[in-house]
Amino acid sequence: MVASKTVNETKEKLSDLGQEHVFNFYSKLSEAEQKTFLEQVQSIDLNELKTQVDRLVLGNEKEADFNWDALKPADYISLPENGGDSALWEKAKSLGESVIKEGRVAAFTVAGGQGTRLGYDGPKGTFVVTPLSQKSLFEVFANKITRASERYGVAIPWFIMTSAINHKTTIEAFEANNYFGMPKESLFFFSQALFPAVDLNGKILLEEKGKVVMTPNGHGGSLRALVDSGATEKMRKEGIDVLSYFQVDNPLVSCIDPAFIGFHVLNQSELSSKMIPKAYPLEKVGIFCQYEGNNLVVEYSDMPKAMQELLDENGEIVFRSGSVAIHLFDRDFIERVGSASSADKLPYHKAVKKIPFINGSGEYKSPKELNGVKFEMFVFDALSKANNTVIIEGLRNDNFSPVKNADGIDSPKSCQKDQLNQAIRWLNAADVELDISPEGNKTKDFSFEINYRFAMDEEDFINQWNNLKNKPTIELGTIIE
Ligand code: UTP
Repeated sequence: MVASKTVNETKEKLSDLGQEHVFNFYSKLSEAEQKTFLEQVQSIDLNELKTQVDRLVLGNEKEADFNWDALKPADYISLPENGGDSALWEKAKSLGESVIKEGRVAAFTVAGGQGTRLGYDGPKGTFVVTPLSQKSLFEVFANKITRASERYGVAIPWFIMTSAINHKTTIEAFEANNYFGMPKESLFFFSQALFPAVDLNGKILLEEKGKVVMTPNGHGGSLRALVDSGATEKMRKEGIDVLSYFQVDNPLVSCIDPAFIGFHVLNQSELSSKMIPKAYPLEKVGIFCQYEGNNLVVEYSDMPKAMQELLDENGEIVFRSGSVAIHLFDRDFIERVGSASSADKLPYHKAVKKIPFINGSGEYKSPKELNGVKFEMFVFDALSKANNTVIIEGLRNDNFSPVKNADGIDSPKSCQKDQLNQAIRWLNAADVELDISPEGNKTKDFSFEINYRFAMDEEDFINQWNNLKNKPTIELGTIIE
C-alpha cells in the first residue's frame, strides 16, 4: 500500500501548481494502479513543467527580442561542383577515412518519435521503403553501416534512440530480423525521456484515470538521453568521439560520410551540419543562419516570408541553407550539453496537437480539434551552443528524401522515386549508359535497386561496379548486390 504521507505530499505539490485535477480519479483506482500512477507522477519534473507551461502555454514569460535585421545567412563549405575547393574536399575525405578506420566514429539514429503524419502502426524504422527488395528503414541503415564497416575494416557501432512508445517493439524487430546482419554487440538501444502533455490552459492531460499523457521530449532529448543511458560513457571507453546523427525517416542519408567527418575533425568542430540548398524559397525546412556570431537554425515558420523569398544579385535564394537533420556531434560536447547539471540546456518548444484524453467525468475523448500541447526540444538548438561549428553542402539526392507523410511531398512514393534517381545517377557515374534519365518518363513504371550493402555512396559504387565480374543487365526488377 502507498504511504498516505507520500500521497498527500504529491497531491499538495500538484495542488500548489494548479494541477490537483490529476488526482480526480485516484480513489477509484485499484491499489496496484495507485502505485503505478504515483510512480509516474513522481517521475515528472513538475517545476520544469510549470516553467514550460508559464512560458509556452500561458505566455507569462516574455520571449527575448529577436532582431531580424541582425540575421545573416550562415557560411558553408560548397561542394566542388558548386565552386568549392576540390583539393580541400579531397583532404577532408582522406582525413575522414582515417578517422573512421581508427574506430572513432559511430552512427546514431533518433527513432523515438510518434510518426503520426505517416499513420503507420509500429516503430517508424520498421516501415518498408525500398521499392523491390521491400526493406525497412532500419534494414537500409544497417546495410549502409555494414558496408561502411567492411569498406574501412572496422566494426562501426550503431546507437539507436527509441522512446517508451516503441522501445520494446523496436528491439523485437531487430531480434526477429537477426539484427539486419549487424553484430549484436555493435548495437546500443536506449530510450529518451517523456514529458507531460497539457491542455490549452496548461492543465495536465490524463490518458487513463490513473495515467498522465506523456510524450517523447523531442529529438533534442537525445543529448541528455545519450548521457543518462551510458552511451557517451560507452563511446569514451571504445575511443569513439564522433557521432553521426540522422533521423529514422530518411533512407537517403549517407550514414557514414568520410568528407563530412573530415571537415568536422579538421575544424575541431563540436557540432557539424549538412545543408542542402532549398529547392524553392518557401520550402518547409529549417534554415541555417548566423546571429550574434553563432550559427543557428531558424524554423521556416518563424522566418518572415519576405526574408525566405529574398534573392541575391544572381537570383539565388539568400537564406538558402536548408537544414536536413544530418549532424556530427563531438562526444565531449554531448556530455557538456546533455548532462543533468548543464547550464547549456536546450529550450523546449510547443507543438499544438489533437491529443486523446480522459475528461473530468472520466470519459475517453478523441478530439477533432487541436486541444493539447506537447513539449519538445530540437537537436539543432545545440548549434548555437557549440564551438567551431562547420556547415557543409550536400547533394540533395544523396542525402535527403524523408518519409513523413502517407501521400504527396515526403511520402513513400516520392522517396522511392528519389532512390531510383540516385541509382540511375550512380550508374551513370560508373559510365553505364541507361535508356532512362532521372527526369525521363520511363522511370514512371521502371524500377531497379542498388543494395546499400553493395555500395554505401557514389564513389563506393563506381569501385564496386568496376570490380564486379558478372555485371547484371539493368532491367525492370534488377537488384544490384
Ligand atoms: P519528426 O519531427 O518528423 O516527428 O521527427 P515524428 O514524431 O517522427 O513524426 P510526426 O511529426 O508525429 O509525424 C524527426 C525525427 O526525430 C525523431 C523521429 O523519430 C524522427 O527520426 N524524434 C522525434 C525522436 O527521436 N524523438 C522525438 O521526441 C521526436
